[in-house]
Amino acid sequence: LDNGLVLTPPMGWLSWERFRCNTDCKNDPENCISERLFMEMAERMAKGGFKEAGYEYIISDDCWLNKSRDADGFLIPDPERFPNGIKFLSDYVHSLGLKFGIYEDIGTFTCGGFPGIAGHEKQDMQTFADWGVDYIKIDGCYKDPNTFPQVYPDVGRYINETGRPMVYSCEWPLYVNSNVTIPWVNISNTCNLWRGYGDVQDDYNSLVDIAEWYAENQDVLIPIAGPGRWNDPDMLIIGDFELSFDQQKTQMALWSVLAAPLLMSNDLRHLEPQFRRILLNRNVIAVSQDKLGIQGRRIVDSLKGNGVEVWVRPITPTAQTVDATVFSFAVLLWSRRDDGVPFAVSNPISAYGLTSKTGYFLRNLYTNQDYGFFRPTDVLTVRVNPSGVIFFKATPVIAG
Ligand code: GLA
Ligand code: GLA
Repeated sequence: LDNGLVLTPPMGWLSWERFRCNTDCKNDPENCISERLFMEMAERMAKGGFKEAGYEYIISDDCWLNKSRDADGFLIPDPERFPNGIKFLSDYVHSLGLKFGIYEDIGTFTCGGFPGIAGHEKQDMQTFADWGVDYIKIDGCYKDPNTFPQVYPDVGRYINETGRPMVYSCEWPLYVNSNVTIPWVNISNTCNLWRGYGDVQDDYNSLVDIAEWYAENQDVLIPIAGPGRWNDPDMLIIGDFELSFDQQKTQMALWSVLAAPLLMSNDLRHLEPQFRRILLNRNVIAVSQDKLGIQGRRIVDSLKGNGVEVWVRPITPTAQTVDATVFSFAVLLWSRRDDGVPFAVSNPISAYGLTSKTGYFLRNLYTNQDYGFFRPTDVLTVRVNPSGVIFFKATPVIAG
């Protein structure tokens, strides 16, 4: 969507994967969906390097609403869990120099059974603008997906008509019946980001599934992505329970190569330093936030070779170039082998699409190790940990 927002993929925090629909503030006040939760996360995100690294949006997912609208038909939050109202919360988030996002659903109910926006679309977008919302996620439960080509653009128009800049996140394609062609171009003109595949779970296999879907559909998905319009493979689960240290580095690198939103769903109040360092890795974030906004591609499928996939994303060259077609590249080698030991990969770098005759300087983005200068035929040997990655940047040497 060309509304001047999210010219690089949005970064921030979203409640769903980690906190779900926990509404039990009596027994679990620290973790229930409440103003306290968002205020505490905002405080943590404003400190400790997150804001400086680019994390910006604090977003409530489902289950913030009251079970019914007020007497005049306006949306209201649950009065016990949000005693001061949403405007208060968004003001607080803004006072920390961050932005505030909220969740609703295009249908009669949210997926969690709270009031949806159907029949109140225009009124609700105005309510969000009045509350100072900066980002709106619109889910697709409880509505006939055949109406989506009409209603998602309608809601986008209502957002626009409020005059308040608000990022528009859609779950439109996820719900389209498998026998219907997905109108990807229409979706990317309507929404700033959109979910194409199922919900991420705190589980390595979930990452594998998601990555596989994005690779299988990359010929359709890559051309529609760019500044202001992003494919959304769902939240970062770094700092949660199930992923190993290497698997967390894998998600961060993959999401950066995919030009995906970096929306953490974790508990910033209890985050081990080694996981924080992954989330704050400047080299990897720089790939994610590259201004060209070109989504990366899987160029080698692990099923067809030694179990190591290769993903490549063209990024802005570090050196000034006359020829705009000279890119730097972020190159990701991801081991999906299951033999439990690091695996040595040796290839001439031309195997990674690095074919410029003047050669490249290669540097590992996680370790900062300099691999040195390589011509296309020079062989690079690296060892990839099981379910882990080697992630490096190739900067072209500019002739003349
Ligand atoms: C769906 C969405 C999730 C989350 C939940 C909330 O499952 O895909 O991202 O918003 O609904 O109920
Ligand atoms: C489907 C969707 C999920 C979630 C549920 C809600 O399974 O794929 O994202 O929204 O419906 O019932």
